[in-house]
Amino acid sequence: MTPPALIETERLILRPWTSSEADRSYFHYLNSDDTVMRFFPFRRDRRQSDETLQKIITATTVDGFGWLATCLKATGKPVGFAGLSKVSFSARFTPATEIGWRLGQPHWRKGYATEAAKALLSHGFVKLELGEIVSFAVHDNHPSTAVMKRIGMIADPALDFDHPDIGDAYPRLKRHVFYRLSRERWLQRQRAVR
Ligand SMILES: CC(C)(COP(=O)(O)OP(=O)(O)OC[C@H]1O[C@@H](n2cnc3c(N)ncnc32)[C@H](O)[C@@H]1OP(=O)(O)O)[C@@H](O)C(=O)NCCC(=O)NCCS
Repeated sequence: MTPPALIETERLILRPWTSSEADRSYFHYLNSDDTVMRFFPFRRDRRQSDETLQKIITATTVDGFGWLATCLKATGKPVGFAGLSKVSFSARFTPATEIGWRLGQPHWRKGYATEAAKALLSHGFVKLELGEIVSFAVHDNHPSTAVMKRIGMIADPALDFDHPDIGDAYPRLKRHVFYRLSRERWLQRQRAVR
């Protein structure tokens, strides 16, 4: 049975992943497609993808902290994932909570990542009472930094970094840009747009 939505927007529901064949298969596509994964140094085979998904399922909290299946309301089917998660490596800005997104290519350029991310910021700052949310992407991943800018995150170039988990064999994927948003700043902006 599909779990209920944790977060709902105009066109999307964000819900926990399940270990159903449909979810595992779509998650594998998101981890193995060369276009979707062009800014990542790895591709996951089905076994590795299933293992990662199981870890994500276990780590997702009932109040919606974790990588969530991002589904179209119109079809009920996943189009990608988005979520809030503890940064898994050590850097000058950690410990920190990151916001992130990954969509299947047929669902790009429709505003879904931005729509999900805006709802996640609200969820993170209001329901989860986070003080700050950060985001980062490979230097050349302009579609991802465009999402960051659209949702009001602020670049902090002094904290741009070489990702510690990306080996020297992938020099183009190592340099990451860093964005951040405080709860205070987000609340100020929410008041201003009302
Ligand atoms: C990063 C990623 C999610 C961005 O996807 P995206 O489609 O560019 O972003 P959105 O879903 O927010 O869509 C925004 C675009 O849809 C357009 N759009 C079309 N219809 C829209 C609508 N109804 N509402 C809002 N925007 C709409 C916007 O104008 C914008 O286009 P533009 O880039 O030409 O300005 C996607 O490129 C991806 O999954 N990449 C692979 C994984 C990855 O790199 N993840 C990030 C790792 S850090």
